[in-house]
Amino acid sequence: MTTTSCGGPGYWQQRADVVVVGTGVAGLAAALAAQRRGARVVVLSKAAEPTGSTATFYAQGGIAVVIPDGDDSVEAHVADTIAAGGGLCDPVAVTSIVADGYGAVADLVGAGARFDEAAPGRWSLTKEGGHSRRRIVHAGGDATGAEVQRALDRAADLLDVRFDHVVLQVLRTDDAVTGVLVHDGAGLGLIHAPSVVLATGGMGHLYSATTNPDGSTGDGVALALWAGVPVSDVEFVQFHPTMLFDGNAAGRRPLVTEALRGEGARLVDARGGSITAGVHRMGDLAPRDVVAAAIEARLTETGDACVYLDARVVPDVATRFPTVTAACRAAGIDPALQPIPVVPGAHYSCGGVVTDVTGKTELAGLFAAGEVARTGMHGANRLASNSLLEGLVVGGRAGRAAAGHAIDAGPAPVVLPSGERRMTLPRNELQRAMSRHAGVVRDGAGLRTLASMLDAATAVPLRGRVDLEDAALVASARALVAAARDRTESRGCHHRSDHPGTDPARAASTVVRHSSGRPTVGRAVAVSVEALPVEVCA
Ligand code: FAD
Ligand code: SIN
Repeated sequence: MTTTSCGGPGYWQQRADVVVVGTGVAGLAAALAAQRRGARVVVLSKAAEPTGSTATFYAQGGIAVVIPDGDDSVEAHVADTIAAGGGLCDPVAVTSIVADGYGAVADLVGAGARFDEAAPGRWSLTKEGGHSRRRIVHAGGDATGAEVQRALDRAADLLDVRFDHVVLQVLRTDDAVTGVLVHDGAGLGLIHAPSVVLATGGMGHLYSATTNPDGSTGDGVALALWAGVPVSDVEFVQFHPTMLFDGNAAGRRPLVTEALRGEGARLVDARGGSITAGVHRMGDLAPRDVVAAAIEARLTETGDACVYLDARVVPDVATRFPTVTAACRAAGIDPALQPIPVVPGAHYSCGGVVTDVTGKTELAGLFAAGEVARTGMHGANRLASNSLLEGLVVGGRAGRAAAGHAIDAGPAPVVLPSGERRMTLPRNELQRAMSRHAGVVRDGAGLRTLASMLDAATAVPLRGRVDLEDAALVASARALVAAARDRTESRGCHHRSDHPGTDPARAASTVVRHSSGRPTVGRAVAVSVEALPVEVCA
């Protein structure tokens, strides 16, 4: 990559073919694929250092994948995904992504990832909520994400990966992307590029307590909205039923993987009563939205602070689940001897930037992949362990498509940043209000209160990571609240106490755009589906 001096005082400036924002599963899959297509790729992460900076690193349960020649099938995995998705999955997108899963995981193994084996050459498969088969491959027991990240980091060793680089704005002309505005240790810079891939992860820090790492602040959703690109299904925030409860309710909290329930652990209240008996035919392994809502209902009914996951029946729990065991022990609990106190916690954004299954957005040259994107895979509620799968498959496709676009489009024109100010609120205040009014169960009055609070946010210039994150949280919250107010029904992981039923007339995705500084909500997404052959880490 060359450094250019193309006008605009005060900015360092460079050129690339493809800028990838994010170093998790989706970002690195995209970057590796783009580089293999011959593109000059720059990968940016706002984190100061790689370790523990992505949600990918923290993934526990595994990757849902159909192993050929077993008792599973793509059709069964697609059916389970669609059943969990509350009527809003795009079946064509689901089929396309699930069908390429095994190839993507095999490529990851080619890049050095090692998954746990039941016997030499045969992966050990576990089960999680909503899956009709044992189809989840895992590594290090419950340290799957750390292994995926390790393999991708190693494969990305020769890439131009820059930490401490926060993207503040996606630059564009009327027709196409032209690059990004970045803040690094040397100040503000511009990277001019015809293709930009957003792989910025989720928005768990909209809430006071979350399973997500610090950087999950909705940046990609905000960057897309500010660039005029729509987001969809953002009201569907998945609350994981079992976040460790240790009295500390703030910040990133440890997850207690659903795979424990796949291996026999049971959810009970303080009196030993089952949480899910009579709620769903799959019991404790019902889809996440059902289990989280059942826990929330029990907590409301009893006034208890938490429920319990009794994992004492799981054989060799400390060996099979070392990550969970370590987190529990740090909180003074031994899962082999004591039930684990848990509560639902903000975990995953089912919606995001509207893309097709190649990561393409409606703006030429802008792509999105991983948790930040809405491909139509997850609908109103994601099936467990489908996220790493989607990140690998669509990340790879997005990288190839971005490289192809860069070749076709040629060098991007120089566009300078708008310098627009963005709305921010004190983060704790926002998180408290979101936790109170836009959590597992919402209602119209609470959402209205939230909307007024968000409308009163103050406009500030974006000077670095903290400003950007605060503004991204407000922009994401405004989109989420606008969509949640519009959805006057309960569906998937959006539960309205004032509209407890599902309304068949509302079986369409919400689409939110940023227009004249405000979120505007429309309905139904139509995106073209162009599946490319998968090839992640050859
Ligand atoms: P991430 O891995 O979160 O990476 C985001 C990247 O974007 C980071 O590098 C960050 O620094 C960068 N970034 C963000 N904003 C900016 C910006 N403005 N400028 C520059 N860089 C930026 N899914 C499964 O399928 N199976 C599981 O077992 C599983 N377990 C999970 C357990 C936990 C505790 C959590 C939190 C999630 C789990 N998930 C699981 C979900 C899954 O891990 C994530 O959805 C997935 O890893 C997201 O990958 P990603 O590449 O989209 O984003
Ligand atoms: C878990 O291990 O329970 C998390 C899996 C996921 O979020 O897909």
